[in-house]
Amino acid sequence: MEELKRAVAREALKFIEDDMVVGLGTGSTTAYFIEYLGKLIMEGELEDVYGVPTSHQSRLLAIENGIPVVGLDEVDAIDIAVDGADEVDPQMNLIKGRGAALTMEKIIEYRAGTFLVLVDEGKLVERLGQRMPVPIEVIPAAWRAIAEEIEVFNAEAELRMASKKDGPVVTDNGNFILDARFHRIDDPLDLEIELNNIPGVVENGIFADIADVVLVGTKDGVRKMER
Ligand code: A5P
Repeated sequence: MEELKRAVAREALKFIEDDMVVGLGTGSTTAYFIEYLGKLIMEGELEDVYGVPTSHQSRLLAIENGIPVVGLDEVDAIDIAVDGADEVDPQMNLIKGRGAALTMEKIIEYRAGTFLVLVDEGKLVERLGQRMPVPIEVIPAAWRAIAEEIEVFNAEAELRMASKKDGPVVTDNGNFILDARFHRIDDPLDLEIELNNIPGVVENGIFADIADVVLVGTKDGVRKMER
């Protein structure tokens, strides 16, 4: 599994050129990409490349690996964003947010010239929600009300806990995460919009219609899906 993640991360480097601003995703697959990108920058193979991190986690990792980091409000545009995903359907709609960084990920990836997704073949599903719940970032005071309101979508939502001792997971933005299991997701784009209409929802982990290229690590090599 780790080898498949490394293989897609290596392949993603082919998309990076000098003078690019690169959105840096969050998670274990992107961590390899950040490490390899840092190496190319440190060795002088790539020049004037800047990273825009999607989380504290990816920011620290980028700094550790020698990638100059900038904020979204310091750049005119993001050329490419590179990130993992938890599920990918045949239309390249995604579920993201296992690492609780979905809001900043969506803010950056929505605005990237190219959004490149890195997954291993175990993440491919026929229909979103088949295996993973949809993470929803919510304003803490509203978590219980939203968990109940989500039932009208034929779903059950649970507050994500770090541990009994540490309590609920708190996002980089100071919010909570609900994990919502939907019995069936027929129209990801429609559900993405509907969930964001609930007052108190900050963002949800359905990323419909924004991935441009998906690199899939398989035992037989890296496969490319694109629009
Ligand atoms: C972070 O919030 C997530 O969206 C990750 O990008 C996603 O969970 C994929 O992570 P892995 O590469 O660790 O599976």
